[in-house]
Amino acid sequence: MTATTQETRTILFKIKRQTEPNSAPFWEEYAVPYKENLNIISCLNWIAANPTTTSGVDSTPVAWDCNCLEEVCGACTMVINGRARQSCSALVDTLVKETGADTITLEPMSKFPLVRDLVVNRQRMFKELIRLKAWVPIDGTHALGGGPKESPEAQDTRYALSRCMTCGCCLEACPQFTIDNNFVGAQAISQARYFNMHKTGAVLADERMEELEGPGGITDCGNAQNCVKVCPKEIPLTESIAAIGRQATVHAIKSFFTGKK
Ligand code: SF4
Ligand code: SF4
Ligand code: FES
Repeated sequence: MTATTQETRTILFKIKRQTEPNSAPFWEEYAVPYKENLNIISCLNWIAANPTTTSGVDSTPVAWDCNCLEEVCGACTMVINGRARQSCSALVDTLVKETGADTITLEPMSKFPLVRDLVVNRQRMFKELIRLKAWVPIDGTHALGGGPKESPEAQDTRYALSRCMTCGCCLEACPQFTIDNNFVGAQAISQARYFNMHKTGAVLADERMEELEGPGGITDCGNAQNCVKVCPKEIPLTESIAAIGRQATVHAIKSFFTGKK
């Protein structure tokens, strides 16, 4: 490509917008000058500084969320060309190569309440972590010593699970997780496995399993396996779902024989 065509080349952004949670959505298009190595956030920054649509209408800057800018916090997740991913790590060059067109579509995730434009409220995921007691309980903040030993194999498994950034991609792709049902979802199921595997975290395993065996728990998973395909951190979600399924069976049998059910 010559220098002149590089300079005149633009990427067409089709953006789904909505000014308020209950207002009607609408689409706008922006032509962003192409440069090598652009990510989606740098294009949104350009649009914020030049909010004039391709029809020449002066609009308002598009709202989006971000924080770490290095695919760690999950805040910038949106649906880019039909797939939920992080706008900080989604590169224009890669997206254009995927589709063969200089057009990129941006939409908010559909499984979380909309705040404005591309910003959604992901609080439900954090509430599910509270519901499953996804933490290691401690008795106090005094020095607690080195803690129980863990095998390198267990550490490796738990490290993979620890990489979850609560982004919501797995839930956006899941046919069983809807904006108004109570399915806990693959992300929280995997975190329950993570904390059940921790020697101190396992103290709360029974309480986690009670929740996971109840409404909206593990039995609501239809095993479609969409979640594992879209997780940007390659977390073995279907292994987690299978592991929690086995733990639920053992827990239910144990509860039956101990008279807890
Ligand atoms: S396996 Fe399917 S139904 Fe279960 S959490 Fe993953 S995407 Fe959802
Ligand atoms: S499991 Fe993967 S896709 Fe789901 S919230 Fe965590 S990092 Fe995101
Ligand atoms: S800004 Fe944190 S993951 Fe993109």
